Amino acid sequence: MPSTVRSDRSSQIIAWAIVSLFIVGNFLPVVGAWTGPVTGVWFVGTQKPRRGFLWLFVFTFFPSLFADWRKFPLDNPGHAIQYLSLAMLTAALTILPLTFHRLVSPRLPGFSSTLPFPLAAVAIPALALALRAGVVPQAGPRTVLISWFAATLVWMWNRESHATTAFLGAGVVLATALESIAHFTGVALPAAFANAMVVDYLCIGVALFLGIWAIFHPVRERNWADRREAIARLQSPFTGDSLRVVSELGHELFLSNSGERFPVRNGIPTFLRPQDLTGDNRKYNHLYELIGGFYNDIQRVFSPLKGLDLEDYFLSYMRLLEVRTGDAVLETSVGTGLNFKYLPRGVKLTGLDLSPEMLANCQVNLRRWEMDADLFLGNAETLPFADASFDVVFHVGGINFFNDRAKAIREMIRVAKPGSLLLIADETEKHVKEVYEKGLGSFYKNRKEPVSAPIDLVPPGMQEVHLESLRSGMFYALTFRKPISSDSANTALKPDMADCSRGA
Ligand SMILES: C[S@@+](CC[C@H](N)C(=O)[O-])C[C@H]1O[C@@H](n2cnc3c(N)ncnc32)[C@H](O)[C@@H]1O
Repeated sequence: MPSTVRSDRSSQIIAWAIVSLFIVGNFLPVVGAWTGPVTGVWFVGTQKPRRGFLWLFVFTFFPSLFADWRKFPLDNPGHAIQYLSLAMLTAALTILPLTFHRLVSPRLPGFSSTLPFPLAAVAIPALALALRAGVVPQAGPRTVLISWFAATLVWMWNRESHATTAFLGAGVVLATALESIAHFTGVALPAAFANAMVVDYLCIGVALFLGIWAIFHPVRERNWADRREAIARLQSPFTGDSLRVVSELGHELFLSNSGERFPVRNGIPTFLRPQDLTGDNRKYNHLYELIGGFYNDIQRVFSPLKGLDLEDYFLSYMRLLEVRTGDAVLETSVGTGLNFKYLPRGVKLTGLDLSPEMLANCQVNLRRWEMDADLFLGNAETLPFADASFDVVFHVGGINFFNDRAKAIREMIRVAKPGSLLLIADETEKHVKEVYEKGLGSFYKNRKEPVSAPIDLVPPGMQEVHLESLRSGMFYALTFRKPISSDSANTALKPDMADCSRGA
């Protein structure tokens, strides 16, 4: 069984070359003209629209002030205010096409979702000119191509390169490359296409059409009323009462017999009350709320940079699960759902997490991968599921920093069917020290105690307790079986420490 993850030298070289190109783009305008829009489209796509706009505004407005500080009119307060207002308007107009893309593109099907940015990148400056707010350089055919290139590249990245994506993407990349060659060699674009006025009006018209279309086609949310199997598994995490779905003013919510109300927000039933978010759960929740949008991409970029094979990385622990077609599978602390990709199709997936932002991105991922899962906002220490509801229960990557690890483990056991194998995997102290403390020091320094595999917290009576050290001691995977009957729990085997790595 592999305990290290395969390294991939060629991917590592490509990853470093691409990252270097993006870094160079910050200093060389000719490169930045291409890498800047790609970064912009990627970034707004990872954020809620308002937050994305505000962040990009800060990234655009302040550097532009520093770049042009010599022009700042210190002598006259009236001129200074005028100068600042114009700079703010310019920054806002520069970002608006990206925000338009963020709002409209998720509602468009397939490849058409690449169009809002190029259209808006031309339409918004053209409208600004028409309204005499001409502070953004006017855009033409070249802008369409560069921004379409950016939107397509990000679309391909998000689709994780299916064949059609690669084909369509290659078309746009080719068109953009030809245009660039034409630009640098002085060869003109075909006259009709090069006529900026025609392109302006065309872009305004189509952007308007797509914007209106998107308003009437919101992303469809899950309807819970017809998910009987999922509802049957639910119970109040506070009273244990069973739950039913009702609809009030067009919004679904879960009601318990004792009158508890659990709202459904953005398609996700909410079993977390503000007063339950305390201690370490609260502290680390801030982190996940912040990074939820690019949690996947952090792994997709850093793994090749470090030369790690991402698939090996996930399979190192997912291979330990016992999953059969038709099984009901629960992942507590599901995050953005990355582990679901490594489960066989034909299982019923359920995920629970403490972070709305991670779950929102899990929904996006599931749509991209054409997968379906019941997602819940809640605390892994008080699960909203009935006893013995799932064939497979597992947890990856959060338990080290839970408020109460023992309670979370007891809850996993409670909701697992008798005889099922449970998996708990997380980073070791070595990883936390070498990676997290260096990268995110303030979050991980001054911990109460070093992290350790919670083998001592597995209740007596669990069978086949087994601890494995993975990825050169950076990760641990703990598995154990819930006994078939309560009798066998009493005669449970002692923990099998043969392969245990207590250093985990
Ligand atoms: C490192 S991520 C792992 C996500 C996912 N399991 C994976 O392997 O990609 C840790 C996750 O644990 C969640 N989490 C932390 N404390 C939790 C708690 N008490 N209950 C439920 N989820 C929690 C965080 O919100 C975050 O999504």
